[in-house]
Amino acid sequence: MCGIVGYIGKQKASSIMLEGLKRLEYRGYDSAGLAVLQNDGVTVIKKIGRVDNLSAHAAKQKLSGHVGISHTRWATHGGVTDANAHPHVSSDGKIVLVHNGVIENYVAIKKFLLTKGYDFESETDTEVLCNLIAYHYAKEPENGEGTRLLDSVRKTLSHVEGTYGIAVVCTERPDEMVAARKGSPLILGVGDHEHIIASDVSAIISRTQNVVYLKDGELVHIAKGGFTISTLDLTDVSPVIDTVTWSVDDAELGDHDHYMLKEIFEQPAALENAMRGRFSADGSTANFGGLNLTAADFRQIDRFVFTSCGTGWHACLVAEHLIERYARIPVEVDYASEFRYRNAPLDRDALFFVISQSGETIDTLAALREAKRKGYKCMAICNVVGSTIARESDGGIYQHAGPEIGVASTKAFTSQLMISAMFALYVARMRDMSFADGVDYVNALKQVPAKVTRILQQADAIADIARRYAKYNDFLFLGRLSLFPIALEGALKLKEISYIHAEGYPAAEMKHGPIALISEECPSVFLVPKGELFNKVVSSMQEIKARKGRIIAIILEGCELPEGLADDVITIPDCHDAALPILATVPVQLLSYHIAVARGCDVDKPRNLAKSVTVE
Ligand code: F6R
Repeated sequence: MCGIVGYIGKQKASSIMLEGLKRLEYRGYDSAGLAVLQNDGVTVIKKIGRVDNLSAHAAKQKLSGHVGISHTRWATHGGVTDANAHPHVSSDGKIVLVHNGVIENYVAIKKFLLTKGYDFESETDTEVLCNLIAYHYAKEPENGEGTRLLDSVRKTLSHVEGTYGIAVVCTERPDEMVAARKGSPLILGVGDHEHIIASDVSAIISRTQNVVYLKDGELVHIAKGGFTISTLDLTDVSPVIDTVTWSVDDAELGDHDHYMLKEIFEQPAALENAMRGRFSADGSTANFGGLNLTAADFRQIDRFVFTSCGTGWHACLVAEHLIERYARIPVEVDYASEFRYRNAPLDRDALFFVISQSGETIDTLAALREAKRKGYKCMAICNVVGSTIARESDGGIYQHAGPEIGVASTKAFTSQLMISAMFALYVARMRDMSFADGVDYVNALKQVPAKVTRILQQADAIADIARRYAKYNDFLFLGRLSLFPIALEGALKLKEISYIHAEGYPAAEMKHGPIALISEECPSVFLVPKGELFNKVVSSMQEIKARKGRIIAIILEGCELPEGLADDVITIPDCHDAALPILATVPVQLLSYHIAVARGCDVDKPRNLAKSVTVE
């Protein structure tokens, strides 16, 4: 949620940190701050608002130091004020800290520190953590090995309950930095005579592609131009340096007005990447090396459980539909946040799947851990390589969709749908699906990127429709079977970026309640299937029309609606049923995007939202 960037090297720390913060701003953005060690002290600037505001204030100061830490905040403890923004400085002025996460026992620690004479300027749990480090630092003797700061951070963290990703510097040790994580992502970028601590790869990618993904319970100590990693219980760790496969250009806006639009247009490439190298040589099924399970293992599985949050949960619903339809294996779908607490009874031979773009969503991670604790094998469908969920699962499928910066998920979602469709095929071919049907299915999926491109060519026409509907404050999205999750997704997209109230429903459910909402002021977006349910959905549309409701219909080419039934029609290419949810998603993304733009909303940074939700 919040973002961390810490720099130690030969360059001006403030410039590198501000660039990194700008790239992290999508994670959380109610305030931002930085601290630079210089002139035997520390200069701290922290301001509510965006990183640009912080940059403007930083430009007025002389910030020449080469070591610093910085932060963008998404408030948890304490309101949005300059004082509550990070970095925090201990009341003895020595320890400076940025922190992502939540310290659950901060009240008790604060009471203890007050008795020891420490003062507090903010309402945050972070300032408590900062003063606790200062307390241990004051008690820790110099040991000749240069590990006094590291040892005090380690001691502090052993008293802390909760989650954290932290970066710490000390005014008495101007060439050192300590960082640590538990439950909050943190990476170390290893550059040319420089090290960068960050909560996300995008913050460091312009400096280096060499990264160490820190694990929970690890601390990194950067000093004398090098670094060491150890655990809370004092075990040394040999670092593994990974290479990030995407470049800084992948995370740039280019010619697009918003990341969301850029990412909508990147979908053909993201879908190609989801499929690349994953079809069998005979072209009749998919292959997933990363699942680490044999066909014989799969034959033992009598149920899949899929969990996720938000948009990923909608992908789970599509996976459920496709797996049950094509492989005839029961699938259960649960919100990750519910699964972890409801102590669900699971079948003995169930296989557990989580879906997470970021691989860091705390609810999804907790659900994964809960399922593993119960002894289930857990697979992950993730976009971010090296993320916590990807690492902690027993196997999985990487999406390879490239970085997704826009807060509203777009290309990651359709890529999850593609992987779900391929996975359904994979298990279906181990059960009853014939070779010929498998070949048809594969050929149909291979055509999806080109078909998405054809929908994207209608973007201007969809924008025109969107502008005409931007004035409405309530919307319904209606679909059936595999299009019902897309109705939910359409409603979620519209809600989160345009702040319009929208609901997704199975089209036939409409008459059991939501139809009461229908008036000239509440338009409906219908996702119309072909085949046996076409006429049923047309009947639902008639019911809306009879009540003067306006209708936008998304239909397949070749399907004819009764004259005048829909006020506006968007067509998508005819396709295999496994591809339908992917194609139907693109128009609802474009509609939501253009409605939000027409209403003047900040599409990439919607209010109250952050890209990666790492707190409960
Ligand atoms: C909505 C959206 C969120 C995420 C959810 C899970 O557009 O992006 O609903 O889908 O927060 O995030 P990940 O997939 O990173 O676990």
